Amino acid sequence: MAVKKGLFKTSVGRKNLMAFTGLFIIFFLVIHLIGNLILVIPNSFFPIEFWNNVANGHDMYNAYSHFLVHFWPVTIVAYILYVAIITHIIDALLITLQNKKSQGEKYIVTDNSTSSWYSRNMGILGTVIGVFLVIHMAQFWLQYKVLKVEHDLYELVLATLKTWWFVLVYEIGIIALGFHLVHGIESAHRSLGIYPKKIMNTIKYIALCFSLVMAILYAIIPIILYFK
Ligand code: HEM
Repeated sequence: MAVKKGLFKTSVGRKNLMAFTGLFIIFFLVIHLIGNLILVIPNSFFPIEFWNNVANGHDMYNAYSHFLVHFWPVTIVAYILYVAIITHIIDALLITLQNKKSQGEKYIVTDNSTSSWYSRNMGILGTVIGVFLVIHMAQFWLQYKVLKVEHDLYELVLATLKTWWFVLVYEIGIIALGFHLVHGIESAHRSLGIYPKKIMNTIKYIALCFSLVMAILYAIIPIILYFK
C-alpha cells in the first residue's frame, strides 16, 4: 500500500505517469488528425450522397463534430483527455524542478554531447505547444463545445484559418509538436521499459517516421484551408 501511495511521488513513478499520459495524448492526436483531414477532402471525393445527407466535406466535417459532442462515450474520453493533458503538464513541471534541484546539488552529471537539441529543450517545446493549445482551445473548443456560440464548426475553422498569422501560429505549434513527439515517444519507451535496449535504435527510427508523418499531415491542413 505504501509502495502504491508513493508510486507517483518517486521520479520513476512520475516518468511512468508522464509516459502513460503522453501515449494517451498521442492516441487522441491520431484520431484528431484523421477527423480534421476531412476538412481538406476535395468535393470530387463525394460523387454521391453516401450517408445521412452527407454530400461534401463541409457536411461530413459537421456530421463528425456533431458526433463528437452528442455521443456520450466520446464525451467521457474527452474528459479523460483533459485530465491527461493537465497531469502531463504538471508532471513535466515537477520533473523539470526535480532535475534542476539535482543538478544544483551536483548529484547528477549529464553528458549533453550525444543528446539531440530537441531532447534537451523539451521544456521549451512543451511551452510553445502549451501556448498554441491555449489559442487553439479558445478558438474552437470554447466557441463550439463550451459556449456553443458557433454551430457550423467547418465554417468556424475555415474562417479562422483565412488569417495568415493564425496559419503561422499553427505551423509553429505543429513543428514544436513534431519534435516533442520524436523525443517523447523514445523516452516513453525507455521509462516504461517495454522493449529491450538493443532495439532502441529501431524505436528511435519509428518515432522519427511517425512524428514526421503526423507533423506533415497536421501542417498541410491550415495551408490548404488558407488557399481554399
Ligand atoms: C490543423 C490542425 C488542427 C485543426 C484544424 C484542429 C481543429 C480542432 C477543432 C475544430 C476542435 C474543436 C472540436 C473538437 O473537439 O474536435 C479541436 C479541439 C482540440 N484540439 Fe485541435 N486541431 C488541430 C490541431 C491540433 C493540435 C496540433 C493539437 C495538439 C497539440 C490539438 C489539440 C486539440 C485539443 C486538446 C482539443 C479539445 C478536444 C476535445 O474537447 O475533445 N489540435 N481542434
